[in-house]
Amino acid sequence: MTKITSDQNSKLVTTATVSTPDLGSDRANCLTVEPGDPCTLVILGATGDLTARKLMPAIFNLYRERGLPRRYQIVGCGRTKLSSEAFRDRIEKALKRADILDQSYWPTFANAIHYQAIEYDDLQSYLSLKDTLSELDVKYNTRGNRIFYVALPPELYRPVARRIGQAGLSIENDKDQGWCRLVIEKPFGTNLSTARELDHSLHSHFKEHQIYRIDHYLAKETVQNLLMFRFANSLFEPIWNRRYVDYIDIVATETLGVEHRAGYYEPAGVLRDMFQNHMMQFLALTAMEPPSRFEADVVRDETVKVFRALRPFDLERIQKHLTLGQYAAGAVNREPARAYREEPGVKAGSLTPTFAKMKVFLDNWRWQGVPFYLTSGKRMAEKITEIVIQFKRVPHSMFRRTLDEAISANRLTMGIYPDEKIVLTFQTKNPGAAMCLRTVTMDFEYQQNYTGPVLDAYEKVLIDCMLGDQMLFWRQDSIEKSWSFLTPVLNECEGCDDRTDRLHFYEAGSSGPVEAQALIQTARSE
Ligand code: BG6
Repeated sequence: MTKITSDQNSKLVTTATVSTPDLGSDRANCLTVEPGDPCTLVILGATGDLTARKLMPAIFNLYRERGLPRRYQIVGCGRTKLSSEAFRDRIEKALKRADILDQSYWPTFANAIHYQAIEYDDLQSYLSLKDTLSELDVKYNTRGNRIFYVALPPELYRPVARRIGQAGLSIENDKDQGWCRLVIEKPFGTNLSTARELDHSLHSHFKEHQIYRIDHYLAKETVQNLLMFRFANSLFEPIWNRRYVDYIDIVATETLGVEHRAGYYEPAGVLRDMFQNHMMQFLALTAMEPPSRFEADVVRDETVKVFRALRPFDLERIQKHLTLGQYAAGAVNREPARAYREEPGVKAGSLTPTFAKMKVFLDNWRWQGVPFYLTSGKRMAEKITEIVIQFKRVPHSMFRRTLDEAISANRLTMGIYPDEKIVLTFQTKNPGAAMCLRTVTMDFEYQQNYTGPVLDAYEKVLIDCMLGDQMLFWRQDSIEKSWSFLTPVLNECEGCDDRTDRLHFYEAGSSGPVEAQALIQTARSE
């Protein structure tokens, strides 16, 4: 009998090419087919960092790509007293810093920018804002449609929402007012009860369909592509379950440390910062049942069902489900990196975790027994965001008598960062007389054959909000379910007597604490 060998670990691992239709640079492929209703975008926190670094560059890019409604106005609000001209100067400088200022577009764009000073918890300020907005509606025919983008620290969400409501600005379809939307970003509370309190305040003045809770991970192109990939192909869905999937790895590691955000990060840690939101959404998109329609609430119904199926952790044996770590000094990209505890604003003996690896199970028909490993950490060797579906090995190998090694199982990787791609590995025979297996990877680069504009996460968020599409935003019931799962875990981790022993240090620039590996081994045998 011919000897069969496997080349899976040798240089013969081969990349297969894929062909994709050439999409060229057709704008319609990227931006909305129909620009949204006329509207006014009110930015609360307009003199802050988020507005300068993210929001205004995103709005300006949309303007250049004709992604904004035909009639729109922008009103910046902040505590600083500024004229509209002075505010425009600031924005011009911010666009220059972002290296996207294009003088052929700037003057007309600048004409639609206004500024009004505001005290965030003062009703009078909002009543006078209301007058300004009514005047702009009349002048620019923006039909009383308004988006209030709250680019402010979370402690201001409740007073701001209350004052908008008390000023009568959240009422929809009144005589002078069209629709009204409120945009906020995480954190949506710090545990289940504070999340409920926030929800209660928001709902005192806004209905759920008016509240847009951003998760910028959901607005990433390749994350949205996961829905298309899963539900527009009949090939993968039948094997997307416990019969064929061995385990699923969801990874979002970073090389950056806490930077200047210790004030926020110290009480939050990695579980609140990355798991309650981004990692949970990845889990939901990977595990959800096919929605019956591509509509916001139908898709979000499926998301919440995944969270309902999360198996609560056995808190007595929490280390079997969770490894926490904190970065110690090391080197990232060959540059020395200080320890988390040495970062500005971090307490000397801080026990805040900057790394977590979590093993979760979903108690439902599709996923029973399949471990999902969720890993996220700061100051690690590489910035990688990906979802890996590891399929099971073939149940029986007819080559087993002749092949020395086990045949590698198929693996599907949805790469989100740095490479936006889909990679599928499978086995083939090597050409030639010898019977020899080789692992092939079929590699699809998401941007291949597309040269049009690419929407950044904030552009996507703004477009969807203008269109009134809530599919990529958190709904309250999902937030509650996500916190219901995490709050007992946080209470246990933060309230236990041996908190110090449970925190494992890892060198900055490494792949995290070695203890996280043990989690994988114990999980498989479960
Ligand atoms: C944010 C977290 O939500 O996501 C940050 O607060 C984290 O701590 C960031 O660095 C990562 O986002 P991205 O898009 O760079 O992966």
